[in-house]
Amino acid sequence: MAAYTARAHTNIALLKYWGKADAQLILPTTTSISLTLNEFYTETTVEFDEQLPHDQIILNGRVLKAHERQKIERFLDLVRQLAGIKTYARMVSINHVPTAAGLASSASAFAALAGAASAAAHMSLDPSDLSRLARQGSGSASRSIFGGFVQWDRGTDSNNSVAHSLKDPVDWPIQLITVIVSDQPKAVDSRSGMQNAFSNSPYYQAWVQHTNNSVPAMQAAIANYDLDTLGRLAEQNALEMHAQNMVANPPFNYLTDTSWGLIKMVQTLREQGLSVYATMDAGPNVKIISRPQDTEAIMTQLQQTYPDLKTQIATPGPGIQIWEEV
Ligand code: ADP
Ligand code: DP6
Ligand code: CO
Repeated sequence: MAAYTARAHTNIALLKYWGKADAQLILPTTTSISLTLNEFYTETTVEFDEQLPHDQIILNGRVLKAHERQKIERFLDLVRQLAGIKTYARMVSINHVPTAAGLASSASAFAALAGAASAAAHMSLDPSDLSRLARQGSGSASRSIFGGFVQWDRGTDSNNSVAHSLKDPVDWPIQLITVIVSDQPKAVDSRSGMQNAFSNSPYYQAWVQHTNNSVPAMQAAIANYDLDTLGRLAEQNALEMHAQNMVANPPFNYLTDTSWGLIKMVQTLREQGLSVYATMDAGPNVKIISRPQDTEAIMTQLQQTYPDLKTQIATPGPGIQIWEEV
């Protein structure tokens, strides 16, 4: 069978997914809204091969050991079940984003894997079906099938829990400056972190309600080119998510002193009149939502305060691309 490659970009959630109503199917407790990013992506090639005694998985040039393959093998099992085949696969994947560092590698990874594996298994899935499939690898991957602004409807079953485009291409100047506090794998992966918050945070239901109630306002901010409302909602939603973790029992925290310093820096720049807002996923890295015209002022401040930290500027990115290897 032919080999197929897919490229999918990561996305940053502006209203976040942080907890599962159904852990098996990956149905979330919240509807989430994200922006797909041009700078960070995963490229994955899959080929089903009758000769293989088990799935062979190479990630970033390294053959994964049995225990590291589990999540991916389970996902390939799902693809095999849908396609009605029993053949094992060879998968080669490269992350053009730090792996498991809170920069959404699982989003680009499982979107790319869904695209490459389904094509290699001769299923031609439309974008909605690809989103449903990617969701079952990693929730945030459901959104990385699409470019630009994307909404993942919480849904009530595997069919209606699916992402769709809100705006692509994005016709206004918005950018995300990622400040890399650490590119190392995090101690608590997203899956166990959100399970902890879900089960052990006393304010969890309040977070769910407030996130879901914020969806119409975020949609309106996107439709109205309103960066300040978008940024304010995103920053508040991120802090609310991290607050869940800090008050869980036992508590945990992805943000370091440097993350907090950066959040404070962003808030100070805002007091000085700039439209800049911070958001953080499950990791210490801070992403600054801003306009390209303010890049110089932000970078000057960053270089003064944190001269050693690397930054990367991303703008809206495209949806998944899939092609046959020849
Ligand atoms: P992140 O913040 O990077 O999304 P997660 O904890 O959500 O971190 O997910 C990291 C996990 O995603 C990794 O441990 C690995 O299981 C999986 N993953 C990362 N990159 C790939 C890839 N290219 N292909 C398949 N799985 C991947
Ligand atoms: C903080 O999609 O990585 O980035 O579904 O268990 O694989 P799993 O989790 P994952 O969680 C992402 C959490 C987040 C917020 C978001 O992307 O919405
Ligand atoms: Co992830």
